[in-house]
Amino acid sequence: APSIPRPNHSRASSLERIPTYAPAAASAIDRTVPEPVAAEVLEEQTYFETNIEPSYLPEVRAKLRKFIRFHTERPDPRRIVLVTSGGTTVPLENNTVRFIDNFSAGTRGATSAEEFVDNGYAVVFLHRQFSLLPYSRHYSHTTNCFLDFLAVDSSSGQVVIDSAYQQEMKVVYQQYRKAMDENLILFVPFTTVNQYLFTLKLVSHELEVGAGALALFYLAAAVSDFFVPRSKISEHKIQSGSGGNSLVLDLDPVPKFLKRLVENWAPRAMIVSFKLETDETLLVGKARGALERYSHQLVIGNLLQTRKHTVLFVTKNDAKEYSITEQQEKEGVVIESVIVPKVIDAHSEWITGIQQHQQQ
Ligand code: PMT
Repeated sequence: APSIPRPNHSRASSLERIPTYAPAAASAIDRTVPEPVAAEVLEEQTYFETNIEPSYLPEVRAKLRKFIRFHTERPDPRRIVLVTSGGTTVPLENNTVRFIDNFSAGTRGATSAEEFVDNGYAVVFLHRQFSLLPYSRHYSHTTNCFLDFLAVDSSSGQVVIDSAYQQEMKVVYQQYRKAMDENLILFVPFTTVNQYLFTLKLVSHELEVGAGALALFYLAAAVSDFFVPRSKISEHKIQSGSGGNSLVLDLDPVPKFLKRLVENWAPRAMIVSFKLETDETLLVGKARGALERYSHQLVIGNLLQTRKHTVLFVTKNDAKEYSITEQQEKEGVVIESVIVPKVIDAHSEWITGIQQHQQQ
């Protein structure tokens, strides 16, 4: 195929080329490493000491610092939001053939990122590699294959955008171009839960130092609750004959880092987490429980079945539902266009509160 020249500023020139999906050959298990003292009660400290940091993290740190400086060292500093998006995987083998995954496609995160950019934010988009991305989400994956939007022009014989989609695609393209040209999104990929956790800690630290209260955390990723720690993971592909016909998995709980994030990693930032349930009667209680446990500012509850048109904002003293109608959904309105402005209002209040606190 002919090689296609790419514009200078594009997603392809960013951290996207880091192959987070490939097993890290260098980290094949060294059995001489002592077993962690209490692998089953993994606390935050133990986690980061006994699991291996992704080798590409220094590159992420360098790009991130540059990005944060770019947006904060301006006469009118920009707010920066960390949007986490998509599901983390749990590898079952170190040379990974199999892994545990979850359903998240990254729609919430990718759509929200567009809304944040539209509202003047710069976005660190920490996403599952190959999940949906802002702007390109309109033309990707099997349901929205980009080829379906093309046609052959009868006079020139060239492939062009089908006239039926010209207008819509022009709008999306212009938004994408603006976001890239103005350096408004930093794409940071992950695949495994380990990569996610190490990167989350890094980004939190950098945002705390570089942006303080101007930083907003919008944690829409579906993070695995259980994983196989480094001390227990099989080095090679698990053989089907081993242990009879069944495979018994012994998973450790993933430490809940939200409290560390709120109290230590980014104490000046506003933190919004999401809570997914499938049973409506559990949603408010679970969301409130998360707020009490982690002491952050807002939990956005959603049900698997209705998450694309209804969400529940749960704060310390309040629980408010926001919805879009079926008709609005048909017309292309997205629930994120309701969620994001409300989150931004809360962030404005949060910044004012922090500033007043600092003046006292
Ligand atoms: O991507 P889509 O298909 O559009 O789906 C969107 C969504 C339903 C996945 C999203 O709206 C959502 O609800 N995400 C959170 C799912 C969830 O309940 O996650 P959790 O219970 O594992 O975690 C609760 C919160 O803590 C989440 O904000 C999560 O990002 C965060 N978390 C959890 C564990 C951990 N170790 N670190 C975290 O940051």
